This record gives sequence, structure tokens and C-alpha cells, in this order.
Amino acid sequence: MLRLGIVGTARILPSHLWGIRRLLAAGLADVRVTALVGRTLEGALSFRQRGEGPVPRPPVMEGSDPLAAPHIYISDVHPDVLPDCYTDVDAMLERGNVDAVLLLTPVLLHHTQALRCMEAGLHVFVEKPLAVSVRAGWRMVREAERRGLTLGVAEGMRYERGGRLQRWAVESGLLGRVEMMMMGGVGGPWSPDRITAKTPWRHRKLEAGAGPALDIGVHQFAHVRYVGGEVDEVTAVAARFAPERFDRDAEGRVVERVAVDVEDTYHALFRLRTGGVGHLAFSWGAHGEPTWWPEAPVWYGERGVLKGQRLIAGDGTRTDLTELAQERLPAAQWQVWFPRDVTDSKALQFLDFARAVERRGQPEANGVEGLRELACAFAIVESDQARAAVRVEDVLSGRVDAYQREIDQAYGLV
Ligand SMILES: NC(=O)c1ccc[n+]([C@@H]2O[C@H](COP(=O)([O-])OP(=O)(O)OC[C@H]3O[C@@H](n4cnc5c(N)ncnc54)[C@H](O)[C@@H]3O)[C@@H](O)[C@H]2O)c1
Repeated sequence: MLRLGIVGTARILPSHLWGIRRLLAAGLADVRVTALVGRTLEGALSFRQRGEGPVPRPPVMEGSDPLAAPHIYISDVHPDVLPDCYTDVDAMLERGNVDAVLLLTPVLLHHTQALRCMEAGLHVFVEKPLAVSVRAGWRMVREAERRGLTLGVAEGMRYERGGRLQRWAVESGLLGRVEMMMMGGVGGPWSPDRITAKTPWRHRKLEAGAGPALDIGVHQFAHVRYVGGEVDEVTAVAARFAPERFDRDAEGRVVERVAVDVEDTYHALFRLRTGGVGHLAFSWGAHGEPTWWPEAPVWYGERGVLKGQRLIAGDGTRTDLTELAQERLPAAQWQVWFPRDVTDSKALQFLDFARAVERRGQPEANGVEGLRELACAFAIVESDQARAAVRVEDVLSGRVDAYQREIDQAYGLV
């Protein structure tokens, strides 16, 4: 049995708990949450079992976003074991009844908490983005390697059906050589000036690393890299249109405000190692109404185009990618991707991590992949600051770090 400690009674926590519950229901994993660390004991108790802590807060979003998952108690995930609750990671480590941790804290804490837990011999599964800077990410990756520990990143892109099938389409030659890619959107529930996900830290450089370039950029680059291979170069512009953001009550009165020192908008052009080029964009700004790139992610190749799950060949023939994959792929492959028909990407990521811990290996979304995605995402703000194209390898190696220097200095990483 994997004994899991969860750090951070975060807004993203319910989605992970639902994922673990799905794995237990399907008989796919043997895991119990044995420790829960919150900033306050009440916060932790509000997730332990009904009636113990304060009334749970409602999700901050609606729809299919992981932040829209309804509240769930750990006692509903597995009634046989209740976690010990703490307000400090060291207290959890002292007690010692955990094998691995799931870190759900604001980005600035990822590397220090991960390093602390790895020192204690624990495997680490950390929410994206891996770390607050590339240097902080390297420390995590090196420490995991040095100690032979599993380091997973909760990046769902490569576990989702869309990404699996688009990669299959590219790998199996349906598109031919990749030529162009587009993905993005501007505006949404936090536009033009709401505090994103009610988390002020997302708008402060020393806490979040960057704005959406990191928060959303790592997801976008995870997809780009998974389907199209390594990214060579990024040329981007970023802007901050809302210098202050607000949380308002039902009557529209401001109840919280935050001064913003990161971008809220970016447009990034990239070049793949294979020669393909693409455009990513995102904004927490945008007045009026949002605009989403229709049918994104879109991949153009020399034989046709993939628009989401639709494949349109050069001669105009239209095929549904799921139907085509169902015809051509053996059932065993579907079971590798979606064991026992579990399709929830939070569940699948955790399963991959738990299996990696068991075999003393690394999951697909591991620290090294997370670090590369972090370097691609930081390339957006590094390029904006430099007003020039930047090579991802230079961001990864630390040769390009002007944007991140302030962060690295603040956390003693240089
Ligand atoms: N994969 C996804 O789709 C997705 C979606 C949302 C968030 N996330 C990631 O999840 C993480 C958390 O994001 P969130 O939106 O849930 O933020 P959040 O602010 O709701 O959660 C952070 C939690 O950490 C707690 N915390 C802060 N300092 C702590 C400390 N020293 N010890 C213990 N707990 C502490 C806070 O009290 C809070 O509960 C981030 O890395 C974010 O990028 C991922």
C-alpha cells in the first residue's frame, strides 16, 4: 500500500481526491492518504471527514476544469483510514507514516518542500508548473536522481484522450511531417481583471514565477512537446493590461485586491526541432467576451490537418480521429492508455506515478519532462524581456535567465 501525504488544502485538491477514488473503485491502485498538511488545522480538517472542520468552500469554476471538481472528504475516498492532520511539513515527516507526497502548494514552495521531502526519502508528485524557476526545477530533478526517487509532475496533457490520439496521428504518419500548430484563447472567467482562481499568488512574480505564461504555458508546451517533439526556439510578446486585480462580492463590491507584477497576456511563436512552427496565446485580460482558437489544438502537416479530433486530409476527406483509432488500434493499447476505461486524467496521472514508485522508476510526466516544459514556458517571458528569440536549450542551461534572476536571487538559487 502506498501511504500518501498531501501538502496543501488547495482548490485543486478535490480533483486529485476524486481521481484517487476512481482508481480505488476500479481496483487499479492501493493507496491511502495518511497525512494532510494545511496552513491551518481547520483547513486540513475540512477535508478529513464530514462535520470535523469548517463548511467546505465551493469550487471556483464550473464545467470540466479540474478546479470545478466538487468538494470531497478523504473519508469518502477511503473510509478505512483517516489521515493525520498537520500544519507543517516537518511535523508530517517526523511522524513518518508516508511513502510519497503530493504537493499542491503555490509554486514558490514547490522546490523547498520537494527537496525537504526527498531528503526524508519520500517520492514526490508535484502539481505543475514544476517550480518557480528553471534553477529551482533543476535542484528537484537532480535530487530525485541522486536519491533514486520518483519525481512526477501533475501535468494532465499527455494523459488526455485528445493528446494521446493527436500524437498517435502524427506518429503513424497520418499528417505527414508537421508544418504548423496553433492553440490558445484570450479571456475567460477571470477577465478582464478578476483574481485568477481567487488565488492572489498567481499574480505575483516571486510566488508564481510568471503569470499565465507559466500557469497555462506549461500545459500548452506539454501538449506541443508530446505531439510535435522538442521545441527549439521561442519568440514572444507579453503584456500586463490590468495592473490590479479584484475579487468582488455578489453586489459587485471589491472584497480583495492584488497589485500585479507579472504579465496577464502572451503571444508566443515557436519553432520545433523538426522545422514545424506554431503559435500559442493566452490571456487573463480581454474585455467584452473571450475568443478561443476554434477547434484547437490544430496541427497542420504535409498531408492534411488535425482540428481537435477531426482529421481533414489533403483531398478533403474528413475522418473522426477517435473512430479511426478505434478501428486501427488494438484493444490492448486502449487499456494501456485508459486502464479499466478510466479516462479521468487526474486519476491516470496518479496511477502512473504510483506504478513508477512501485517499480522505482519515473512516470511519463516526470521531473525531466516537467523541467523542459518549464524552460519552454519561461522562454516566453525571457523572450519578451530580451525582445528577441530565445533558444529553449539556453533557458534550460541557465545561459538565458534575465527574467528569472530576481526569483533565483530571492530564493538563494544563484
Ligand atoms: N493541473 C491543473 O489543471 C491545475 C489546476 C489548478 C491548479 N494547479 C496547480 O495546483 C497548485 C495549487 O493551485 P491552487 O489553484 O489549488 O491554489 P490554492 O492557493 O488554492 O492552493 C494552495 C494551497 O497551499 C496552501 N499552503 C500555502 N502555504 C502552505 C504551507 N507552507 N504548507 C502547507 N500548505 C500551504 C494554501 O493554504 C492553499 O490551500 C499550483 O501549482 C497550481 O498551478 C493545477
